[in-house]
Amino acid sequence: MSDTKNGDRNHRNHESGEPRRGIPFRETVIGLLSAAVFVSLFYLWGEEIFPRSAGRLGGIFPFVGAVALTLAVTLFLSEWFGFAGREVRKVRLAARDFLFLCSLSLILLFLAKGVVEVLPSVPLWNRTVPARLYVYLIPLPAFAMIVRVLLNSEVAILFTVAASVLSAAAAGGRWPALLFLLLSGTAGAARSGRIQDRYRMLLVGIMTAPICALGAIALELAFHGTAGIWWAGLFAGINVLAAGPITLAILPLAEYAFGYASDIRLMELASTGHPLLKRLMLEAPGTFHHSVIVGTLAEAGASAIHANPLLCRVAALFHDVGKVSKPQYFSENQAGSENVHDVLSPGMSRVVILSHVKEGLRLAKEYRLGDGIAEIIAQHHGTSYLYYFLDKAQAEIQERRATEETFRYPGPRPRTREGAIIMLADSVEAAARSLKDPSQAELDEMVMRIVNRAYLDGQLNECDMTLRDLHAVSQAFMRILSAVLHARVDYPESGKGPPA
Ligand SMILES: [Fe+2]
Ligand SMILES: [Fe+2]
Repeated sequence: MSDTKNGDRNHRNHESGEPRRGIPFRETVIGLLSAAVFVSLFYLWGEEIFPRSAGRLGGIFPFVGAVALTLAVTLFLSEWFGFAGREVRKVRLAARDFLFLCSLSLILLFLAKGVVEVLPSVPLWNRTVPARLYVYLIPLPAFAMIVRVLLNSEVAILFTVAASVLSAAAAGGRWPALLFLLLSGTAGAARSGRIQDRYRMLLVGIMTAPICALGAIALELAFHGTAGIWWAGLFAGINVLAAGPITLAILPLAEYAFGYASDIRLMELASTGHPLLKRLMLEAPGTFHHSVIVGTLAEAGASAIHANPLLCRVAALFHDVGKVSKPQYFSENQAGSENVHDVLSPGMSRVVILSHVKEGLRLAKEYRLGDGIAEIIAQHHGTSYLYYFLDKAQAEIQERRATEETFRYPGPRPRTREGAIIMLADSVEAAARSLKDPSQAELDEMVMRIVNRAYLDGQLNECDMTLRDLHAVSQAFMRILSAVLHARVDYPESGKGPPA
């Protein structure tokens, strides 16, 4: 999800080319299977642990209590996340996000029950440690960190509250359990934003452990006296220290199953050793160079408005990857050779140019780049005109053999600020390339013209960019272009020494 308007995506009708519409088939199947698993777990475990008051109906259909409990918990979660999704700008949840959060909450509920019911029966421990202290081992910090890393801080806070309530209820509904779960979840999630390597993820546990251990000791002291405070502190510390490794173990599974890309994954994708980037570098070097400059521009633009700079840089590297199959049809790869479009009709050129978006989406799926990057590939031209070929086709348009609208990309338009930044950076880079030795004033004027054109054409109507954001992004583009285009100093010829 990250900072996207995914909720809108599921309900509105958009132009063709949209990656998601309604509740996709994959999510429906995963949802039904998950519900069946949780009903079974409630049924198998419910006899002893959860109240089952299905009455006479239980005799006819033994699963009725488990179905009812699954329904009640799912209703609570859907109202909780649904309300926040409608009212909080950064909590727009797509079907897969909702499914992911519900699954994590329910898994944690059963883990909480397992920790509290099963661990005290292990013969090695049960003589010395009071059973109530095992609540400090409920692995909520790891789950909250996963949500923070894959979604965002607002969703992580909501998840921590909902999962804490459910887990504390499953663990006997004691106050210390609820307070500790809220403390450990928020402490872990708060420290795990923008983590780009595995080492820092382990460090989060080390930084958070003393706080949670202290919290557990204080809670134990307040509610039960001094008897078990050291065990409480030890369990809480171990729990939070283990959160880093648990998060690292679960992240790849969650990324694979739900199509997310954490910052760690984005860093891996940004490596020039990635096979798709290598292909782009060798088969379409002009496009690769263009993508690197777009990435630099987009990263600066995103930093200026507190969007996601890493996602911008990495998505920009892949935004035109669909050009690898026909690189010679794109101007950046034509240096020195003749323009193949000279011998093609504007209509034919249009088909080839439009195909790079579709091909990019195909490659994104093949190389598992994640939904975030795939959506930016789909949206990076929005529904803008192919201006060059539109001009070329004026004769056909006047003779009514073609219309202006056929020379538009199919969309969708950018839905996120990151998508919008990449669209603007892409156009700005292409225009800057066509300028010969531009002055700073010419560069500034060109950036303003391109941003205004996108705005007036309605390309930014579906994302959360404000006019203030647009101004900040334009300023960042101007700064970077000026540095890139004016930084080349003429070297003196060899042996003649520095210029006077
Ligand atoms: Fe493109
Ligand atoms: Fe591009």
